[in-house]
Amino acid sequence: MTPPRKLHIKSYGCQMNVYDAQRMVDTLAGEGFVETANADEADLVILNTCHIREKASEKVYSELGRLRVMKDDAVRQGREMKIAVAGCVAQAEGEEIIRRAPTVDVVVGPQSYHHLPQLLKQAKAEGRALETEFPVEDKFGFLPPPKPDAIRSRGISAFVTVQEGCDKFCTFCVVPYTRGAEVSRPVTRIIDDVARLADNGVREITLIGQNVNAYHGEGPDGRSWPLGKLLERLAAIPGVARLRYSTSHPRDVEDSLIEAHRDLPALMPFVHLPVQSGSDRILAAMNRKHTADDYRRVIDRFRAARQDIAFSSDFIVGFPGESREDFSATLALVTQIGYAAAYSFKYSPRPGTPAADMREIVPAAEMDERLERLQNLIDIQQSAFNKAVIGTTVDVLFERAGRNPGQIVGRTAYLQPAHVMASPDIIGKVLPVRIDSLERYSLLGELAARHAQPQASALSQTAIGA
Ligand code: SAH
Ligand code: SF4
Ligand code: F3S
Repeated sequence: MTPPRKLHIKSYGCQMNVYDAQRMVDTLAGEGFVETANADEADLVILNTCHIREKASEKVYSELGRLRVMKDDAVRQGREMKIAVAGCVAQAEGEEIIRRAPTVDVVVGPQSYHHLPQLLKQAKAEGRALETEFPVEDKFGFLPPPKPDAIRSRGISAFVTVQEGCDKFCTFCVVPYTRGAEVSRPVTRIIDDVARLADNGVREITLIGQNVNAYHGEGPDGRSWPLGKLLERLAAIPGVARLRYSTSHPRDVEDSLIEAHRDLPALMPFVHLPVQSGSDRILAAMNRKHTADDYRRVIDRFRAARQDIAFSSDFIVGFPGESREDFSATLALVTQIGYAAAYSFKYSPRPGTPAADMREIVPAAEMDERLERLQNLIDIQQSAFNKAVIGTTVDVLFERAGRNPGQIVGRTAYLQPAHVMASPDIIGKVLPVRIDSLERYSLLGELAARHAQPQASALSQTAIGA
């Protein structure tokens, strides 16, 4: 028997890339590859890249420089090391990558991962292989489902892609170009995936998509199902203690999603709802197709359905033409909404997007200052949100052993890490924890006696999860 070949994948960017990396591992397992954490002992290294901002893209080339040295060493030792570039840079730049970095053997875009085994054979025969076209076939259909062992080794929480691509064309964003048009997976496939994951110990499912609440997959009844209806169906699968979804767009928040938050205890009350800016003028220039008030109204609908709901968001500062007043409107929106967490970025022009041609560039120093002010405000909100948990009892889904002996780590409904000293058999269960303190971003606490009357969401699911 030939020894297994070793595969190392390095992922950048969003959750979709993390998920895709697992799909590539599953696909290549069929070709005799096993994963390794060390690039230098790998027979195949895949860089799973992100094109969202300039820095993210440039990282790929510096990493390829390092890999070239490793590959040369391997060749000197009489070993073969193939290098593949996958992800959104592969999609956006295609052949240009091989021109800039001849050490690369395979370039494969996100729509073509099921062709990886074939591409590797082609690269061996011809010296290189390229596949960055959007195939018209059902790109979701070809990949093998992960084996039970593979699922178990991945733990308690898993991503499931339900939708891919985006038709929104925000003027700053590369995603519609790198991930293509919006496509939704059929409901039955998603149910099968979630049931398989739950059967193998997964307790928390995060449905992912570039625009996840634009989901409109075909249901078993032949009709198009919205995300809310899908969530309702998935919540009924035995073993599923927690459901989440990411990333959503404020324009696609249908009533069925709001109702799902009202009706489904398993659906966690934490929603990532990027707004990007608080200025209507900038939102229009970004082609977000919503105003700041539209966004406030969406938040109000969520809050009316579930009081304890919290939000996170993404912001871009220094979009072309952003004046001080526009930026103040963003600060005002943040102050008014109150976020549990948020990501903020300096605008980065992306080749081929409409905003890259906009002239009114915000000076770098001004951008830095705005970013700092926004991040300070968000930090204050986030730490107030985290501190508010101290002294209360909250449900935690336990995921793994902590760094210190005897410590087990889990997450609250709001994804805050929580640590307790307990036996490892609590892993996979949702249990109430009395929170004593906060250390940086982690909560420390003790397992609490069960509530006399468990009213909370996930608690009632514990019996299934246990
Ligand atoms: N689908 C998600 C966004 C995915 S990209 C959504 O619609 O919200 C993640 C975040 O990166 C975006 O929300 C945006 O804040 C940021 N981003 C995207 N393009 C960018 C650019 N050109 N410059 C700076 N930040 C950008
Ligand atoms: Fe990009 Fe806008 Fe689509 Fe989000 S909605 S992926 S920001 S184009
Ligand atoms: Fe990056 Fe592509 Fe995701 S550009 S953010 S890896 S969709």
